Amino acid sequence: MDKETLKKAAAEAALAYVPKGCVLGVGTGSTTAYFIRGLKRGWIVGAVPSSKETERALRKRGIRVLDLDQAKRVTLYVDGADEADAKLRLIKGGGGALTREKIVATAAKKFICIADGAKLVKRLGKHPVPLEIVPMARARVAAEIRRSGGRPVWRKGFVTDNGGEILDVHGLKISNPAKMEKNLEAIPGVICAGIFGQRRADLLLLATPQGIRRIRAG
Ligand code: 5RP
Repeated sequence: MDKETLKKAAAEAALAYVPKGCVLGVGTGSTTAYFIRGLKRGWIVGAVPSSKETERALRKRGIRVLDLDQAKRVTLYVDGADEADAKLRLIKGGGGALTREKIVATAAKKFICIADGAKLVKRLGKHPVPLEIVPMARARVAAEIRRSGGRPVWRKGFVTDNGGEILDVHGLKISNPAKMEKNLEAIPGVICAGIFGQRRADLLLLATPQGIRRIRAG
């Protein structure tokens, strides 16, 4: 089975969890794009997007777009990931939308993560950890990361929806994801680290050639 078929299968499995009349938070990326394509117009009250790209896709689908202040509650957040472990901790931000993704995921009552089963890993960190940073702090953040054993690579030319830049950090040894997340986010100039160790997913829907594998929190 090819990757795209698996991504689509994970996205379609998530549609069954969307309650009628809810306010939905919607992530960013190719797996989430399949999810948006499957959303039925009129089923939900509106959606809070995690990026400009997702906002455009929702509008194209005829779905009402809400900002976080308008949406009094976000019932469910659905998003993909670059890596996930069995404790539902994630690495996200391959598409550069990590900061808004973390904000909407944290605001949501429930977070369902959808992915191709190959993204499940024993230990997070094979995929580089994206950091959104304030551009003027790039060299200082990079030096700090090098001191702690990581190899930062600047995503040159990429500007986030917030006007930030991205450093992809390779080689981090992530034994405690929540602690690593806090340490990275404590570096002045780091806006957000792409480790979701504190706000983990509540349900992981992994598409495998044998079918959908569900991993729940706890
Ligand atoms: C974007 C993300 C994406 O969810 C992540 O990169 C996975 O993307 P895809 O579904 O295209 O594999 O975090 O910032």
